[in-house]
Amino acid sequence: MKMSRSGPKNIVITGASSGIGAGLAGHYATPGITLHLQGRNAQRLEQIAEKCRARGAIVHSRILDVTHEAGMNQWLSSIDANTPIDLIIANAGISAGTGIHGENGKQVREIFAANIGGVVNTVTPLLSAMIARKSGQIAIMSSLAGLRGLPSCPAYSASKSCVRAYGEGLRGWLAAQGVEVSVICPGYVATAMTAINTFPMPFMMSAEKAARIIARGLAKNKARIAFPWMLYYPMRFFSCLPVWLTDPLFSRLPAKDATSGQ
Ligand SMILES: NC(=O)c1ccc[n+]([C@@H]2O[C@H](COP(=O)([O-])OP(=O)(O)OC[C@H]3O[C@@H](n4cnc5c(N)ncnc54)[C@H](OP(=O)(O)O)[C@@H]3O)[C@@H](O)[C@H]2O)c1
Repeated sequence: MKMSRSGPKNIVITGASSGIGAGLAGHYATPGITLHLQGRNAQRLEQIAEKCRARGAIVHSRILDVTHEAGMNQWLSSIDANTPIDLIIANAGISAGTGIHGENGKQVREIFAANIGGVVNTVTPLLSAMIARKSGQIAIMSSLAGLRGLPSCPAYSASKSCVRAYGEGLRGWLAAQGVEVSVICPGYVATAMTAINTFPMPFMMSAEKAARIIARGLAKNKARIAFPWMLYYPMRFFSCLPVWLTDPLFSRLPAKDATSGQ
């Protein structure tokens, strides 16, 4: 871990039009900071951009789908060529579960495309440039649901497990090249994604609080930013146990409706 570091000045956040991404944008929005915010909903993204400008940040917003490989490559490469990106947060994602309608192939593919393909499209365009200048920080949004395959949301937990492992691998590889990588594993955060859940969500926190925890962890270059600890440690414990032993417990967890699309 580096002992002294200046904060990031040129920051990219995907999925900034809502929830945790919007919370992160608001957190980093201060004078002297340039934010590049991305999402699909133009109206919501512009509202967040305006709030960040009012806090003194320079803000550029881009309507783009993270699954659009060429578009992401062109967007990120042109930002980086203009001013090197200090921090990129691959946050955009969708979720669904096995409640009511189960999970169909189309939905699984959509979740994988956004949550895995979208992260790849966000991270890979910058790798060679960051390695060449031996600086830069990459944050990958996983989830506590990525610590173990969950019967309530197989595709979502698989996608988050995949990007967690991808981020951990990247971190070990890129440390020697001067590039930092952190994986973020939140529990329940109050956003559009969780607003449609009809079951209890213990230790739920606001997107603003989650953003503060994430930013603190990134400033320390933590390998894994997992919270809240009241959910993280039980999840770690149960993830270590044999699947046959814990399946009866995890199978009882309530599931989001598969057709919700959030
Ligand atoms: N909320 C939680 O409890 C929780 C817990 C653990 C991890 N996470 C993760 O945190 C991340 C943010 O989720 P959130 O809770 O803040 O949900 P959210 O409020 O629904 O926000 C999701 C964001 O991702 C964007 N997005 C989704 N698919 C996209 C695509 N294909 N291309 C571009 N942008 C896309 C959305 O953009 P538009 O709305 O403009 O389409 C929106 O800005 C996700 O990766 C999620 O899995 C959330």
